[in-house]
Amino acid sequence: MGIKFKRVDFKYQGFDEKGYLALSNINLSIKPTGEFITLIGETGSGKSTLVQHMNALLTPSSGEVDILGAIINQESIKKKKIRLNPIRQKVGLVFQFPEYQLFEETVLKDIIFGPKNYGVSEQEATKRAKEIINIVGLNESYLSRSPFNLSGGEKKRVSIAGILAMDPDILILDEPTSGLDPVGRDELLKVFFDIHEKLNKTVIIITHDMNTVYHYAKRVLVMRDSYLVYDGDPVDLFTKKNIEHWNLDTPDLLKLTYEIEDHLKKPFKIRPRTQAQLLEMLKEVEA
Ligand SMILES: Nc1ncnc2c1ncn2[C@@H]1O[C@H](COP(=O)(O)OP(=O)(O)OP(=O)(O)O)[C@@H](O)[C@H]1O
Ligand SMILES: [Mg+2]
Repeated sequence: MGIKFKRVDFKYQGFDEKGYLALSNINLSIKPTGEFITLIGETGSGKSTLVQHMNALLTPSSGEVDILGAIINQESIKKKKIRLNPIRQKVGLVFQFPEYQLFEETVLKDIIFGPKNYGVSEQEATKRAKEIINIVGLNESYLSRSPFNLSGGEKKRVSIAGILAMDPDILILDEPTSGLDPVGRDELLKVFFDIHEKLNKTVIIITHDMNTVYHYAKRVLVMRDSYLVYDGDPVDLFTKKNIEHWNLDTPDLLKLTYEIEDHLKKPFKIRPRTQAQLLEMLKEVEA
């Protein structure tokens, strides 16, 4: 029982009577544990819209989403049958723009808001907040500050802390590392990967960084013009043909691999996933 999309269309209503079709015929199945997925695609392709369906912030115009057994479709929405609270606790979503997520006077109040809402005592939630603020790369002195007076990267970290504090089963992060410096980005990615690996949780990350995709992801989803056009292995995605066809950036490790192949005038049999693997492949060539 994970998250399952069946023939989902979604239209933003508003700017004309037809609305704007942001998701078209999405079919997708995500396991409740053990996945590490990256979601990529050009700006405006529907990535944020897609993940907002995973915790029922947005609901399908047609088709249905099954979120851990709760069926979200036009009928269940009309009958108001859906209990949103358990969904929001189990499927934690960090927004692309942290401003949408931060609203309390202090960072501490912001982080403990979620857990308190789901029945954790103030004392216990505060203890958790003190641990988590360090995990996201800040320190306890931030807890008494106003979230509105922080830098963009700090806001991002606080909004991530607020979601981690709820200890969701499935963690979804909408461009969590945009606007961070490279060191901060790598540290945070390690945090997310640890959450996945040590706790066997499913983590889904939207990113424009192809190195993140190639290095971490076990599965990659590609959105294009409201359609899900690829769902599979990162190595199979980054063929020269696909890179050209979908206008993707080439991950650095693959760029290097292609350059070495050109130099050797001979393709390798496999694609390396890590630098260490590429080095091993080179040793074999020399031998
Ligand atoms: N509130 C809204 N009202 C109307 N149209 C919207 C709204 N939000 C998004 N859209 C449109 O829906 C499409 C998909 O938007 P979405 O935010 O899901 O894209 P995205 O892939 O996350 O892009 P980005 O990489 O820029 O974050 C875009 O064309 C966008 O203009
Ligand atoms: Mg987006």
